[in-house]
Amino acid sequence: MEKYSVVFLPDDIKVEVDAGISLLEAARQAGIHVKSTCGGKGTCGKCTVKVTEGKISGGQGNIPKDLKEQGYILACNAMVESDLSVEIPMEFRLHEHQVFLDDQQEGIVSEGKLDILGDFPLNALAKKISLELPPPTLTENASDYARLITELKKHMATERLTVSNAVLKTLPDILRAGDWKITVTIADLEEGQEIVRVTSGQDDAPAYGVAIDVGTTTIAVTLIDLSSGAVVARQGTYNRQADFGDDVITRIVYADENNGTEKLQQVVMETINDLLNKIFEEQDISMEEIPVAVVAGNTTMSQLFLGISPKYIRLEPYIPAASQYPIVKAKDLGLSINPEGMVLSFPAVASYVGGDIVSGTLVAEVAKHEELTLFVDIGTNGEMVLGNQDWLMCCACSAGPAFEGGGIAYGMRAMAGAIERVAIDKETYHVAYKTIGDTPPVGICGSGLIDCLSKLREAGIIDRSGKMQDLDIPGIKRGDDGPEFILAFAAESGIDQDIVITESDIKNLIRAKGAIFAGVRIMLSMADMPIEAIDKILIAGGFGNYLNVPDSVRIGLLPDLPAEKYEFIGNSSLKGAQLALLSKEAFRYAEEIGRSMTYLELSIGNAFMDEYVSALFLPHTDFSLFPSVQ
Ligand code: FES
Repeated sequence: MEKYSVVFLPDDIKVEVDAGISLLEAARQAGIHVKSTCGGKGTCGKCTVKVTEGKISGGQGNIPKDLKEQGYILACNAMVESDLSVEIPMEFRLHEHQVFLDDQQEGIVSEGKLDILGDFPLNALAKKISLELPPPTLTENASDYARLITELKKHMATERLTVSNAVLKTLPDILRAGDWKITVTIADLEEGQEIVRVTSGQDDAPAYGVAIDVGTTTIAVTLIDLSSGAVVARQGTYNRQADFGDDVITRIVYADENNGTEKLQQVVMETINDLLNKIFEEQDISMEEIPVAVVAGNTTMSQLFLGISPKYIRLEPYIPAASQYPIVKAKDLGLSINPEGMVLSFPAVASYVGGDIVSGTLVAEVAKHEELTLFVDIGTNGEMVLGNQDWLMCCACSAGPAFEGGGIAYGMRAMAGAIERVAIDKETYHVAYKTIGDTPPVGICGSGLIDCLSKLREAGIIDRSGKMQDLDIPGIKRGDDGPEFILAFAAESGIDQDIVITESDIKNLIRAKGAIFAGVRIMLSMADMPIEAIDKILIAGGFGNYLNVPDSVRIGLLPDLPAEKYEFIGNSSLKGAQLALLSKEAFRYAEEIGRSMTYLELSIGNAFMDEYVSALFLPHTDFSLFPSVQ
């Protein structure tokens, strides 16, 4: 096949690619990550690039008018027809996310007890034991392995102990090199124990475990000292699968249509391994020192992590491959821990309520208390759990990617330059905003969008249905698709364009918030309880951490309950994985939680649709549900 060279600017990165591939694929091959919300379907208009030299075919599609006038084209449907130079401005690339990594010292012992453990015992999924074996003689001639087991038995139960051939192969030399003093690292699981590593000499370093939260948008990893429970190191970044679409549906479509499950598995593993390698370098430890990892993710992410096609998750009747996943060796996944190390995945409840929610429910102790708790994780899907120690129900409402910036003209994820706070003066309509990293604005992220909706309504710029009012103010202009409100003028923005919120963005946001509130109402009505019966609302997820509760209530996204009932619990999926690493009992309990949750399939019947339609108003068609909102 004919090859062409493509030079990407301003980086000056050159790749040789096959003729006829898309510029989006060429950029991927060059290691440049272009925004591609729709996964290359030509519908999102985010993958804009400019060809400065050479010939392409295609490239037309849904591009904002001002960008089109500047010569931008869509990378996903522009095909390479010659050697090329292509400019990809920074604002059209994926950058490091504001990944939520708690800096509280969770896991540190306080008052003689690990905070994260709650009532669970410290009984970690791996341990290290130092042994001194009696050397063999002509009369005492048991095998090396039998000799090891005899000593090990003095420290732990070994009835279900296994060892791989890979470890056994190294054993004779290691025993003799250390003069019969060795350190054994064992994955100590409910299902049995496995010797993962044997080293010469007595090693005082702790056994480590790795907790991994595989989110659709971001990935976070922590290294845990399994003897003290301390979080030794943490790293996070965006999930590089975002090159193939922003939400789970576009990734499932990619996996299905391009035979892409293996590709997506490889990309997620590369993302995680890069984070792990950073940690290992920073801590000066080797991957061989990690005998166990626990992973939590939504059902699609979990299946892709394990290399299982997610195809049937999006097809009615929406069936996942499994709710409990097998324990897999790291070498079978390509995960950069000890190749013989064990990888455990949190169980899923259903196709759209996955291990991340089970993990969050575990660590938030939703099922341990009498009080009625609503646990909400707002991402591209609003997943929620309602219940207490007696019962648990859950549902997922497809809120769409609006709160992650998808389907919003200047929407973006929480990265540097995203407007995250907005204030609008009710008299002058002057806009004040704050961006992530305090850099010139390049777009608006979820928390900024919620602020924006609330403040536009408060200032009377939009009515309760989200329609922009006919006001003669400099902030309102007419765009390609109707009226727009300018949040940042071109002169102050980081992209030389006005950053606006359009009327159709507002409608999208109202639909997204309506879906989430409708999910809450459906669960309450199934339990025959009023909103006031909720004792506590736990907001999980990176997005939740930056959420403004009063504004969220004002737009009708969250229930109108006193602020003291709300609690932000950060990345509960990651914390649950950390807890599971430290306590076998906690992981077993998580499996019970997964089994005991009643899943409400919202697509059955009309109840959800009725609630949803009623919620397509600011804050709601039924004002009595929001007594504190004027
Ligand atoms: Fe190209 Fe969406 S329009 S990735």
